[in-house]
Amino acid sequence: MNLKGRHLLTLLDYSSEEIQYLIKLAKHLKDQKEKGISHQLFPDKNVVLLFQKDSTRTRCAFEVGAMDLGMGVTYIGPTGSQMGKKESVKDTARVLGRMYDGIEFRGYLQTDVELLAEFSGVPVWNGLTDLYHPTQILADFLTIEEKFGYLKGIHFTYFGDARNNMGNSLMIGAAKMGMHFTACAPKHLWPNENLIKKCQEIAKSTGASLRFTEDPEVGAKDAHVLYTDVWVSMGEPKEVWESRIEELHPYQVNQKLMKLADKKAIFMHCLPAFHGMDTEVGKEIAQTFGKRYTNVSGGSLEVTDEVIESNQSVVFDEAENRMHTIKAVMYASLGGPNV
Ligand code: CP
Ligand code: NVA
Repeated sequence: MNLKGRHLLTLLDYSSEEIQYLIKLAKHLKDQKEKGISHQLFPDKNVVLLFQKDSTRTRCAFEVGAMDLGMGVTYIGPTGSQMGKKESVKDTARVLGRMYDGIEFRGYLQTDVELLAEFSGVPVWNGLTDLYHPTQILADFLTIEEKFGYLKGIHFTYFGDARNNMGNSLMIGAAKMGMHFTACAPKHLWPNENLIKKCQEIAKSTGASLRFTEDPEVGAKDAHVLYTDVWVSMGEPKEVWESRIEELHPYQVNQKLMKLADKKAIFMHCLPAFHGMDTEVGKEIAQTFGKRYTNVSGGSLEVTDEVIESNQSVVFDEAENRMHTIKAVMYASLGGPNV
C-alpha cells in the first residue's frame, strides 16, 4: 500500500482496500499509543490546520495526531488568516505549500479544499466541508469494526438530514465497504441523485446496498448501527431550525427506535449533539420555539439524552477514534512505513 503524497478530499477517491488499510493503520497506531510506544516519525515536518468553521474533535485530533508523530502544528482559526478575505485560496495554497508538509482544511466549499490540493504541492486533508466529512467516516468505521469485528454486511441507518456532509460521506463509505446503508429522512433531505447513482455503481462491485425511506420504523428495524447528526449544520442560517424541528422530530433517535433495532445495535453520532438544554444554542432554541421544542422529548433534538447516555451509545469511542484515524491519514500521506 502506498498512499504517500495522497490528498484526502472525499472517500470517493479511495478504494475499499485503501480505506481498509487506513483503518488497520489506525488500529496499529492506537495500539502503540496504548502501549506507550512512541511513533515520532516525522520530527522535521510541520502541518497547518486551516479552520473557517469551529471544531473541537477535528482540530484536537489533528493537533494531537501530528504531535504524536513528532510534527510541528500551526492552527489558524476562522478569523486568523488572510485567506478568502485579502488573499485568494489559490495564493494561500501556494504560500502554505512553501512552508508546510501537509494542510488540513475545514470550511464551506468543497472547491476550496480542491484548490488547496491543486496548488499547494503538499497533501491536503478535508476536515469537513458542506459536502463531505471523510475523516469522520474513518473514525466511525474503526469504531464499528471494534464493536462488531467487521464492516461488510453491517446494516447501517442514518436518521436526519441525509443530504449534508455526514449523510453523503457515510453513504459513500458504506458503498465502498459493502455495507447495507439506509437513509431515513423526509424525501427532500435524501442525498442528491447524482451521488446516489455514483454510490449505487460502487455498490455493484462491493456487495453493498442503498435504501431510502421516510419511515423511521422501517429505518430502525434490525439495524446494527443507528446514526444521526445535528438537524442544522454549521453555515446554515438560524432560520432553518423551525422547519427542521418540524420535519425531523419523527426521526429523533430515541428508545422506541433503539428497541426496533438488532439486539446488539449501537448508537453513533459524529458530535456535537443536542441532547439537552445545556448549550447556548440549545437554550436559544428552547427560548425561541418554547413548547414545540421542549415537547420533542424534554429538549433533546436529534437524539434523546437517554439513548446517548445508554450502554448502546459509542459516541465517545468514536470521538477518540477521530485522533487515531486522522493520525493514520497523515502518517500514510507523509510516507510512513507500511504496517
Ligand atoms: N465531529 C466533528 O467533526 O466534530 P468537531 O466539529 O468538534 O470537529
Ligand atoms: N453536519 C454537521 C457535522 C458536524 C461535525 C455540520 O456540518 O455542522
